[in-house]
Amino acid sequence: MIKVTIDDTLIEVPEGTTILQAARMHGGDLVPPAMCFYSKLKGSGGKCRVCLVKVSAGSEKDPRPMPKLVASCVTQVMDGMVVQNLTSPEVLEARRGVVEFLLLNHPLDCPICDQAGECHLQDLGFEHGAVKTRYMEGRRVFNKIDIGPFIQLHMTRCILCYRCTYVADQLSPGRVHGILYRGDVAEISTYIENSIDNEFSGNMIDVCPVGALTDKTFRFMSRVWFLKPMDAHRNCTKCCGKVAAWMHDDKIYRITSRKDKYGEVESNEEGNPNWICNECRFDKKDKNDWVIEGPRAIDRHSVINQNHFEAPYESLLNNRRLAEPKILLQNSEETN
Ligand code: SF4
Ligand code: FES
Repeated sequence: MIKVTIDDTLIEVPEGTTILQAARMHGGDLVPPAMCFYSKLKGSGGKCRVCLVKVSAGSEKDPRPMPKLVASCVTQVMDGMVVQNLTSPEVLEARRGVVEFLLLNHPLDCPICDQAGECHLQDLGFEHGAVKTRYMEGRRVFNKIDIGPFIQLHMTRCILCYRCTYVADQLSPGRVHGILYRGDVAEISTYIENSIDNEFSGNMIDVCPVGALTDKTFRFMSRVWFLKPMDAHRNCTKCCGKVAAWMHDDKIYRITSRKDKYGEVESNEEGNPNWICNECRFDKKDKNDWVIEGPRAIDRHSVINQNHFEAPYESLLNNRRLAEPKILLQNSEETN
């Protein structure tokens, strides 16, 4: 085990751990944000730069600071390393700059985007973004590409994190899409149409940190914060069959994989990610298809938490009925 200090907190981690993973082992405010790193996808990370941190002492043997901010998702800890995340104004300034760059081309269409409420870029903009934009130029536009009945591609929203290409690479027999071109004309290739043609392609929706890949069977049906995510399972011959069913009353609006607090698909007891198949995700929207286990825990800071869904739905309705006359009474008193 080696020792690393992140924002004045001493953590002991195994050798070979990255700074980001070390911070995640501790949790809380120490953890830098991540848009492209995804621990369950080999090779991910190092693309978006939102996880930049300052290394103010390289190691016990060589305590000199690193000359530049480093990407914490691809930098391994050294014994005696001292890292600054939120305690460094330099890091916060750089992160604000990265968010500004990401938003140069990402459209501000949150009010009509299905990813709103669970978009990592929205959270990042809220926590680290500037209030105003300095950008005057037009944003990028692309020809529309239809990638089949299940997944909607909005290339304008893509931040080129490469996660979907790693899913296609690592979960399907042959990867047929990737990033074409470089710089501001870079785009995920049109061959993405072909990578949709496999049983696990729906997982690209779950790993996409923004609304570039969304579920066509759920599109425009509801804002996510009006739904109750429930743990559900079924006997599936293709995947683990363990999902989150997003419900209102008895109706299932969408199925996703179960995600952890970092927005990554949860792992099973053996440590393997619980990716789900397209049949579970797109074809099983009837409540009778599933054994509903109960409500999922949601971060209390998440907008999805606002409906207090841990109370049974009936009691929510009853509370609302009780609350209504009180509000009316207050209003009438104010009017008088
Ligand atoms: S479509 Fe989504 S997952 Fe794929 S590169 Fe773009 S932002 Fe990343
Ligand atoms: S999360 Fe580290 S560079 Fe994207």
